[in-house]
Amino acid sequence: MSRSAHPAGPRHADVLTDGHYSAPAADLNVLDEKVWSRTVTRDADGALTVGGIAVARLAEEFGTPAYFLDESDFRARCRAWSEAFGPDADVFYAGKAFLSRAIVRWLKEEGLNLDVCSGGELTTALDAGMPAERIAFHGNNKTAAEIERAVEAGVGRIVLDSFQEIVRVAHIARSHGVRQRVQIRVTVGVEAHTHEFIATAHEDQKFGIALADGQAAEAVRRALGLDSLELIGIHSHIGSQIFDMAGFEVSARRVVQLLAEVRDEHGVELPEIDLGGGLGIAYTSDDDPREPHEIAKALSDIVTRECESAGLRTPRISVEPGRAIVGPTAFTLYEVGTIKPLEGLRTYVSVDGGMSDNIRTALYDAEYSVALVSRTSDAEPMLVRVVGKHCESGDIVVKDAFLPADLAPGDLIAVPATGAYCRSMASNYNHALRPPVVAVRDGEARVIVRRETEEDLLRLDVG
Ligand code: LLP
Repeated sequence: MSRSAHPAGPRHADVLTDGHYSAPAADLNVLDEKVWSRTVTRDADGALTVGGIAVARLAEEFGTPAYFLDESDFRARCRAWSEAFGPDADVFYAGKAFLSRAIVRWLKEEGLNLDVCSGGELTTALDAGMPAERIAFHGNNKTAAEIERAVEAGVGRIVLDSFQEIVRVAHIARSHGVRQRVQIRVTVGVEAHTHEFIATAHEDQKFGIALADGQAAEAVRRALGLDSLELIGIHSHIGSQIFDMAGFEVSARRVVQLLAEVRDEHGVELPEIDLGGGLGIAYTSDDDPREPHEIAKALSDIVTRECESAGLRTPRISVEPGRAIVGPTAFTLYEVGTIKPLEGLRTYVSVDGGMSDNIRTALYDAEYSVALVSRTSDAEPMLVRVVGKHCESGDIVVKDAFLPADLAPGDLIAVPATGAYCRSMASNYNHALRPPVVAVRDGEARVIVRRETEEDLLRLDVG
């Protein structure tokens, strides 16, 4: 493998691209701890290590591309969230961000609850021993079969998403002789400052029941009128990758208003409110996420204040962070393949994965950072676009970043903060084999989701 300087063409250290970078970080060898998981560091030779293991060893043993998940960081984040919210609140990890049996066991051990949104996630949760009462079941179109399984298993709550579902769940619960605990998901009319496809509380979208026009109040009326449902509260989720607490403020205020209306009309104080997930993480050095204790304080202050002014007892709060727990705990390791300098533009660095292991850049214009991790380099920074190996020009992993100009085929580069919504949204596009997830902790690495094989592909293709 050559370590000589690549004929990289122009060096773009001072080029402004899309207004994002005016210059690269002062030293590309320095890892910004904001975007890397907690046990990541460089060893004496300059190679990145995680959980005490050097990436070269990981690449040799597990291959690339692969996701490496820092187990002790994951567990620490679970603890930080549950300690921040304390015994009077509930933290539900949103399994859609990334779920596997190992994850379920860690959540169980760390005392978290789990939000699932499909039959597959429910099966994984139950199979790995999550007690059903600690599971919340979500989804805008749960099938009757999924609802039956959830009711039979005894999930702690089903989050009702439509008028039809109120009746459907009530009917299934009645036929099982069960009084099912439910929440109603409302859309509060907040436009969270995030990408359109991941904002969920404005009214023109598929989730929930609008507070506007009394729709949510009508849903409450119907749910309270059905014996087989125990309405425990109101749920709202305003979007994803949110840093500004103002959206939560408006959302909490409107949900509390509904609780007050329910009390006035029915004489019932609903005991719980769920404010959903959506808390942002650092994908690049420009992002400044809040710590769980700041979020917990802000949310509980808002709810307490709103309830006081409405003369309500403060309900039990729950939250559903997915990204904020698992996102920062993993990075994707790639091997550099073709390097193509485009004169006057940028250098395209191709890796052995792409949009099949990280669709977020193509889908949401998400920003990521990247670092050369198999070694350090004193070469000048060059402006790069990290692209995958798929047959699509939108197959971009990192849109704009700097890597050392002596980058060469065979180098290992890593994209941090890929723990959330990368493996869980991975695809087989171009018959790519979905990468493994390897958990690393205290000098040991083990596969928790294995790499797909060509036999896996052929097994599904029944000919
Ligand atoms: N609770 C509910 C009801 C949700 O719909 C979601 C996310 C969460 C919690 C967790 O949100 P988080 O804390 O992870 O942001 N694929 C997109 C994100 C879609 C999120 C959908 N719902 C992405 O890659 O950004």
